[in-house]
Amino acid sequence: MPEATNSAEPLLSVRDLHTSFPLRSSLLRRTVGQIQAVAGVSFDVSAGGTLGLVGESGSGKSTVARTIVGLEKARSGSIRFDGEELTSLPPASMRRVRRQLQMIFQDPYASLNPRATVEQIVTEAWEIHPDVVPRARFRTEVRELLERVGLNPDHASRYPHQFSGGQRQRIGIARALALRPKLVICDEAVSALDVSVQAQVLNLLEDLRRDLGLAYLFIAHDLSVVRHISDRVAVMYLGRVVETATQDELFSRPLHPYTQALLSAVPDPKPWNRPPREPIIIGGDVPSPADPPSGCRFRTRCWKADDVCATTDPALEPRLDRHPVACHFATDLVEAVR
Ligand SMILES: Nc1ncnc2c1ncn2[C@@H]1O[C@H](COP(=O)(O)OP(=O)(O)OP(=O)(O)O)[C@@H](O)[C@H]1O
Ligand SMILES: [Mg+2]
Repeated sequence: MPEATNSAEPLLSVRDLHTSFPLRSSLLRRTVGQIQAVAGVSFDVSAGGTLGLVGESGSGKSTVARTIVGLEKARSGSIRFDGEELTSLPPASMRRVRRQLQMIFQDPYASLNPRATVEQIVTEAWEIHPDVVPRARFRTEVRELLERVGLNPDHASRYPHQFSGGQRQRIGIARALALRPKLVICDEAVSALDVSVQAQVLNLLEDLRRDLGLAYLFIAHDLSVVRHISDRVAVMYLGRVVETATQDELFSRPLHPYTQALLSAVPDPKPWNRPPREPIIIGGDVPSPADPPSGCRFRTRCWKADDVCATTDPALEPRLDRHPVACHFATDLVEAVR
């Protein structure tokens, strides 16, 4: 039996999560090492809240998402969702939990069956979970759902290719909502869309969150995209979370050198209020997750790095109120932003 959910407990709580892929030699396909895609990630998503997860390409964001929904296997760590530990859940129970845990992808076209109508795409989930909507109500509920996501309900018999990119993303959202989830993981859900369409889809997601009490794990590589939709933000670098804070706090007082660099590249929405920011250019390339640097993973590209960074891995610890950061120089950085 699932435990009763404690109202103070976050809806999703990820602790020290590790997910690796075998690194194979190109010749004999022998396993010659491990790609540590997710290497000790911790964060919470509260019920009805939105956590933005940001980081460069390859930092492990999608692997975190895929591990949460059970598409990749966690090597170690804990994923608690709605009072249940997912890493040790038998497959049959995972199918039940997956109803509450839906995902929206970057490219809805690739994830929508081109030979199915919108109605078939949405009702497929109800065929698999017959207790959600009785068959007699399929047509009415599809129309309601399409209307809810801003699509014309009379277009239910159309095929995905008859819609624009933004409309197709709305079909993806309708499909994700069909099973009435508690948490929706949006993996780069608006990244492929034009800026104006992006804003419309973000507004829709925000309305749905408010009206339906949804929570989001909202993944993007671009900080400016997560800014308006997130109440908290976690910054990932090479398989680790290096800083988490409320959206407001992260944008006004970034503590980790990596977050500061990422933020310096984001246009300031209120430049008249503040002196202009100097862009911080991070030198070098992202190291391979198959052979990460010792100590702090960011040290090879960090302008504050010292000897201690090579020998000691900094823990993700709160430095300001509810503002954990993984950096040996966080105390200096706190002084600098005070
Ligand atoms: N199935 C896989 N097999 C081997 N390596 C993988 C696999 N999936 C991901 N990786 C590796 O794991 C690391 C993290 O990848 P992931 O896709 O999670 O990053 P990401 O942050 O989502 O990047 P992006 O912003 O490009 O989507 C990368 O080095 C990637 O090459
Ligand atoms: Mg990704």
